[in-house]
Amino acid sequence: MDLPSFLWLWRIAAWSMGLTFCTYGLLAITGLGIRGLRQGEPPRSRPAWLRPLHLGLGLSLVGLVVLLLTIGIVGTLGEYGSLGHSWHLGAGLLVVSLVLASAVTGLRHTQTIAGRNRHLQVNGALLVALLLVLGTGWVVVQKYLP
Ligand code: HEM
Ligand code: HEM
Repeated sequence: MDLPSFLWLWRIAAWSMGLTFCTYGLLAITGLGIRGLRQGEPPRSRPAWLRPLHLGLGLSLVGLVVLLLTIGIVGTLGEYGSLGHSWHLGAGLLVVSLVLASAVTGLRHTQTIAGRNRHLQVNGALLVALLLVLGTGWVVVQKYLP
């Protein structure tokens, strides 16, 4: 794959990454909204749209991260014919695992206090991993810039 064709691929990656951070922020707001309403004194009923919104945003986050993984793997295979050229690979796989763990903890374990805390811990780790993948991605992208 020649350089210009790789450049448009990584432009999509940069935009998707921006969307990923926006989606993460909206998930944090809606998630903390759910938590705040439940923990309020007295507990208030939450609007019917809040949970579906959080779920829809969560689904989008999973989709975006899988898209970024695909772009990264396809682009790297096209360029080198092999994977594993930097720490970016590890950071990328970490992000994908944590997003899936977040979806599983969110969908199956939020009925108990321990489960809800697990969902929050996974999402804290996910934020760190997202910053790692951004940092390592930024470093590898430098060698393709004109
Ligand atoms: C990756 C996909 C995700 C899915 C499928 C998901 C799903 C869920 C579900 C089903 C709940 C329980 C809602 C209820 O009580 O009815 C929940 C709660 C919550 N989620 Fe998520 N979530 C995801 C990602 C995230 C992310 C990235 C964050 C934070 C940045 C987040 C923060 C929260 C918070 C703060 C709560 C409230 C916990 C509580 O009630 O104490 N979620 N999530
Ligand atoms: C969730 C976000 C992301 C995931 C899951 C992801 C995943 C991957 C993976 C698995 C690879 C193959 C790495 C290898 O085998 O060495 C890759 C390559 C690459 N990614 Fe990402 N990536 C993400 C975000 C980004 C961002 C934000 C950038 C740019 C700032 C970026 C730029 C690149 C570049 C330039 C390569 C080619 C690697 C090289 O030349 O060594 N990625 N990505």
